[in-house]
Amino acid sequence: MRILGVNAVYHDPAAALVVDGEVVAAAEEERFSRRKHGKRPVPFAAWELPEQSAAWCLRQAGLTPADLDAVTYSYDPALVRPPEELGLRDSWDHLRTTYARRAPQFLAGALPGLDPDVVRFVPHHVAHAASAALAAPHPASAVLVLDGRGEAVSHLAGRYDADGVLTVLASQSLPHSLGLLYEDVTEHLGFLRSSDEYKVMALASYGIPRHLPALREAVRVTGDGGFVTEPVAWDALAKRRAPGQEWTAEHADLAASVQTRLEEVLLELARWLHAATGERVLTMAGGLALNCVANSRLAAEGPFDEVWVQPAPGDAGTALGGALQVAAEAGERAAPMPGADLGRSWTDAELAAWLDTARWPYERPDDLGDTVAAVLAADGVVAWFAGRSEYGPRALGHRSLLANPGRRETLRRLNDVKGREQFRPVAPMVRLDRAADVFSGPLPSPYMLFVHRVRREWVNRIPAVVHVDGTARAQTVDPTAEPALAALLAAFERRTGLPCLVNTSLNTAGRPMVDDPRDALELFGSTPVDVLVLGPYVVRRP
Ligand SMILES: [Fe+2]
Repeated sequence: MRILGVNAVYHDPAAALVVDGEVVAAAEEERFSRRKHGKRPVPFAAWELPEQSAAWCLRQAGLTPADLDAVTYSYDPALVRPPEELGLRDSWDHLRTTYARRAPQFLAGALPGLDPDVVRFVPHHVAHAASAALAAPHPASAVLVLDGRGEAVSHLAGRYDADGVLTVLASQSLPHSLGLLYEDVTEHLGFLRSSDEYKVMALASYGIPRHLPALREAVRVTGDGGFVTEPVAWDALAKRRAPGQEWTAEHADLAASVQTRLEEVLLELARWLHAATGERVLTMAGGLALNCVANSRLAAEGPFDEVWVQPAPGDAGTALGGALQVAAEAGERAAPMPGADLGRSWTDAELAAWLDTARWPYERPDDLGDTVAAVLAADGVVAWFAGRSEYGPRALGHRSLLANPGRRETLRRLNDVKGREQFRPVAPMVRLDRAADVFSGPLPSPYMLFVHRVRREWVNRIPAVVHVDGTARAQTVDPTAEPALAALLAAFERRTGLPCLVNTSLNTAGRPMVDDPRDALELFGSTPVDVLVLGPYVVRRP
């Protein structure tokens, strides 16, 4: 079957293509439209479809809309209940349902030749669940989905068997939502809701969870796989912070309290799910699965032997999940996703043409890894553009900004290049065979969804990537999957003795990650990056 998956209704519009059980392509609309998160998460924007990413997925596979057996839409309007029944204050929520019902016609308009009758609605949390369990390298698993909200619930706990059949064991009705709770505190702390939750997680490590008693009162598991989240009087715990204002200990303490309570509740939900399923592996998705601090606590203290998180756990991932779910329902159990590099790529000749057009002098070194390692060893900052772009919010060495982790100044310099807050850490990448020497925690970690403890003897050697609490969010690089990146890491270690590099996403603040060569050239031309690597080519700043 040829199945196009689409996510559109809330935020992070995206498209994915699954052909005969194989994940062929997946991409987020923001990488095409250059608008962060694709759209604002308001009901009025629900009609907007991931038109460019969907059209690209088809082109990538040489298909036309008429060739598709199914198009999935990761929201089922038949499951929606009136907002007053759900305890939501959103009086325009009905627009989402209206637009979703019309989605087949809208999609047929956006993809000329598409038969609107092939469009299938997949429940939002089923799409999330499938994006984890059916994409993971494990035939069966317990699955846990937690996000802000879907049609009428905010959570799914269940099990996928080896035939790809989902059994839902629990789902928590709105208004109770751990995701909305986290979004609320994000907004209270002066960050952007549905976007900046990871900043709250970073801020939490600077605070003391002194409001834990109040949060334990308000947020509790119910013993049946679900939970309650009662409204929290945030003002009583910490003064509201205006966007851009300095944060204080008061703000960090609130962040720490919410973060710690979230971790506790996740552990309790995981224990319930483990008891209910007896599965060895837990797979996870939903916006909360981006909380790598909580993921690591689940891996370390939770009952499962292994925890696997979909690399695009936010709503973008439901494009892939919807398609995988419909494939599984048709008896086509998909192969595990090969990696997160499911987006666009360019041939060497195309990249050279871009550089010629921009009139940048460039070279094609015989040993790319060593040439770039020399720049990094001399504290240069390198924009590294290689292969297919990443699906999901993390740069994993395909659209990355790389630097020397040996100097703390690197952090300040990178944050200045990117124009972002200084309290936010940058993360290391490390060759898989060296990872355990430097870091302890869930390994391998190819998708940067867990945090690791930096071994004592390394803390002072790689200061740029060690967070204030002694942790780092390491990405492991497997030389068989990523030979060029592994060669670069090896060359850098030969020169410096350091087996890691700083790796942060190739973008500037508030903008989506670089996707195409033009984006890369624009970033190179407008920031103090020293070297641009475009495929096999090296461009130096004159
Ligand atoms: Fe979601």
